[in-house]
Amino acid sequence: MRLGQILALRQDFLSYRYTQELLKLSTQIPPLPYFQMQKVFIKEKGMATESFFAEFNSQPVASTPLAQVYKAYLKDGTKVAVKIQRPETKQVFEEDFKAMIFLAFIADLFRIFSRVHLQEIVSEFICWSKYELDFTIESRNGYIIYKHSEEHPRTVVPRQYLELSSSRVLIQEFIENGIFVNNLLQQKRDDIEIDKLSYYLVFDVMRQYFIDGFFHADPHPTNLIFLPEAKLVYLDFGIVGKSESKRMPYLKILYGIATKNADYIAEHLFEFGEELIGQELKNFFVRTKKERENFEKISGKIKEFIIKDLREDIMKVINKDMNILILNIKKISEKYNIYLPREIILHLRTMAALNAIALEISPGFDIIKALNLFFNKYNLEEVERLTKEGVHEELHTEIIGIDDEPDWETFKEIMAVEKEKKSGAREKFIEMLAYYAEKYSELRSTIKNLKLKIIMKYPYVAISLIILWAGTTVMILKNSSINVSYFLLVALIGTIIISVIGFRPPRIHK
Ligand SMILES: Nc1ncnc2c1ncn2[C@@H]1O[C@H](COP(=O)(O)OP(=O)(O)O)[C@@H](O)[C@H]1O
Ligand SMILES: [Mg+2]
Repeated sequence: MRLGQILALRQDFLSYRYTQELLKLSTQIPPLPYFQMQKVFIKEKGMATESFFAEFNSQPVASTPLAQVYKAYLKDGTKVAVKIQRPETKQVFEEDFKAMIFLAFIADLFRIFSRVHLQEIVSEFICWSKYELDFTIESRNGYIIYKHSEEHPRTVVPRQYLELSSSRVLIQEFIENGIFVNNLLQQKRDDIEIDKLSYYLVFDVMRQYFIDGFFHADPHPTNLIFLPEAKLVYLDFGIVGKSESKRMPYLKILYGIATKNADYIAEHLFEFGEELIGQELKNFFVRTKKERENFEKISGKIKEFIIKDLREDIMKVINKDMNILILNIKKISEKYNIYLPREIILHLRTMAALNAIALEISPGFDIIKALNLFFNKYNLEEVERLTKEGVHEELHTEIIGIDDEPDWETFKEIMAVEKEKKSGAREKFIEMLAYYAEKYSELRSTIKNLKLKIIMKYPYVAISLIILWAGTTVMILKNSSINVSYFLLVALIGTIIISVIGFRPPRIHK
């Protein structure tokens, strides 16, 4: 089921129909009897729930495919939510992983889903699931977001009891008096400011990405609670994202969207492809020092053309709804060999999901307005300054620390896919170059000049070879009956061979 969700997310970010389903869909499943969950608790904590807590309500408040959540009181009287992982979850997941990897391999082999690379999606899914299975990671993520939220009174995150939690038991503050976003359609509450909170959803995930550098990336409606006083609660920190170092170009793309400025979007989108495109161009043209100059000229031209075309493509979609716009921007950039980093895709996906949720619960919601609320509070310079200062970086390193072992198997899988993507990008790049050379005469002439320069080196060789041949042939002619036309023919063939070598376009280096 989760894979289905991720697939849906990947295919077209989030269509309305999908989110509507999501809002109705409850991830509740029939709970397991208490004694089975108790067994897990005892294995983890070495004692029964009754001894560990002052009071433990054995009736679960929620039962999901992954866990069951209970209400309890710590010895000091604090009310907590206790999330206990279902028994055998790990084993069940691991079996599923194997089957998924195999199926994805087969599907990709026969290109069953031509639009998506299934192995990539599956490895990403597995990577997240492995994280989600370890509640200490989830609790630590929650703690980071909790720490950040301390400065923002409208963002509420349950306090995490890291020292009490373990890999299959998570203990955190119990949130009360709110309403789950998935219940908003059925339930009306006068003390909940839905419209205001809808805007805050998008504002806050912008703030998390650009100011905190760490964001909640699983905005499922059962993970979001609205409280009175326009407060927003996040639950479930299984899927989070960390913003990458290149924050500014991404922020500028969003600023371009907020101000409907296609030039601005195109210009900053290009920054994500500049390196790869530059590298490819270099491989294509630069073999000697002299060629470097021409390379600069050509890459400048190509940059100009790409940005121009990008802009035109963006113009066509800029007035579409946000989800379609985001999806299109991703597609358009890939057309020009521009690939956005994974963290940014994750964040865009989160925003698209929040946008769809907001539209559902608050008709008339306008994401452009929501983005502008963010830019009114934090302008570009302000974000740049905060990024340079590295606010919160210390907190992340302190909490995530060096004991954060990456999952190497999954990591390797992802890297393999990335590599494949790059080689695909190379092919596409050559096509693109040919396209531009055909379309723009200026580029064609620059490339021609470059070729001429390369050829220039060959005439000297050709002339000396012709003289050599001529000399040899004349010597042979003197002693034999071979005639002059034979001599001319040899000279001609020699010249042709040299010219062909000279005119051959430069080859791409590996
Ligand atoms: N701190 C909490 N306070 C109140 N209810 C909670 C809390 N944490 C979880 N729950 C309830 O348990 C459900 C499942 O918790 P969640 O962490 O989202 O599990 P899963 O990762 O399986 O989705 C939530 O949708 C909510 O109803
Ligand atoms: Mg959840």
